[in-house]
Amino acid sequence: MNILIIGGAGYIGSHVVRDFLDQGYAVTVFDNLSSGLRENLFPEASFIYGDIMDYTGLLRAALSKRFDGLIHLAAFKAAGESMIKPEKYSVNNISGTINILNMATETGINKIVFSSSAAVYGEPKYLPIDEQHPTKPENYYGFTKREIERFLGWYDKLKGIRFVALRYFNAAGYDVRGRISGLEQNPANLLPVVMEVAAGIRTEMQVFGNDYDTPDGTCIRDYIHVSDLAIGHVAAMNYLVAKDKSLIVNLGSEKGLSVLEVLETARRITGKPIPAKIVGRRPGDPAKLTASAKYARETLGWGAQHSDLDTLISTTWEAYRRHI
Ligand code: WQD
Repeated sequence: MNILIIGGAGYIGSHVVRDFLDQGYAVTVFDNLSSGLRENLFPEASFIYGDIMDYTGLLRAALSKRFDGLIHLAAFKAAGESMIKPEKYSVNNISGTINILNMATETGINKIVFSSSAAVYGEPKYLPIDEQHPTKPENYYGFTKREIERFLGWYDKLKGIRFVALRYFNAAGYDVRGRISGLEQNPANLLPVVMEVAAGIRTEMQVFGNDYDTPDGTCIRDYIHVSDLAIGHVAAMNYLVAKDKSLIVNLGSEKGLSVLEVLETARRITGKPIPAKIVGRRPGDPAKLTASAKYARETLGWGAQHSDLDTLISTTWEAYRRHI
């Protein structure tokens, strides 16, 4: 099968590319390298340096190359920034996806795996969060993901495009076989921030609040290893080939880890002191978020295999160590 991976040079995209290549698919990466990295490209995959906003140019040229399906991961993803610069998220995430949907219609591609997010749910009403949980995004980023799921629903109905929207929880870790080590620039997520302190790129980290209603007072999240996410994309594409119907599904580890558990494990594995200061809460942070992945098990035969805390930290540290 011939697969186009849009956003395939990014942090999650490169892991997805690696897994499709490992499974014997022919892969083409389409990326504008705005946050993706050349060092994340693999020689076995073709590369098109293009932008999803270039509708009549490279996007049309790329999608015209007879793909059996496409994976769409090209999006901005900083929830905080999306509240200050919604225009940027409207253009790239929403208009960019509409371009992809229209071009897929024009070129006859009818299988799309879309990278959605647990950010579509907003403040949890119950835990663990399953796919029936109401969607009420708390930030504009999450809103763009939820709206795109709706566009996908309409294109399914009107144009026969089948899709799987994968609602990722907190993506973390690096390729378990150590083949990817491109680092995200100016990260804001917990694990890369912890690693930047361990690697001496930052002097200390901030823990955003220790007065939550959780066992150690810090927030609990569901961290899902990128290698597990990558396997989920291959399973989703296989589902589209086998079933010819669309699906919206969570990908999470079903385990809750606190900020302090992550920090203490990182100190143990890296052997670095990782100075941390407790500061006030970050606005918009729910105390606890965990996924139900039951539906992914039932529909995709998928479950997390690499998302234990030691593997999340040790694979990330391996990637950072190469840059010291
Ligand atoms: C995790 C925990 C912080 C940094 C975000 C997006 C979400 C999704 C996943 C894409 C929280 C704490 C963090 C730091 C800290 N993205 N923390 N100090 O906010 O759960 O989810 O990424 O789809 O949409 O919002 O992830 O990694 O920012 O935070 O104490 O320097 O770590 O308060 O409890 P979050 P995160």
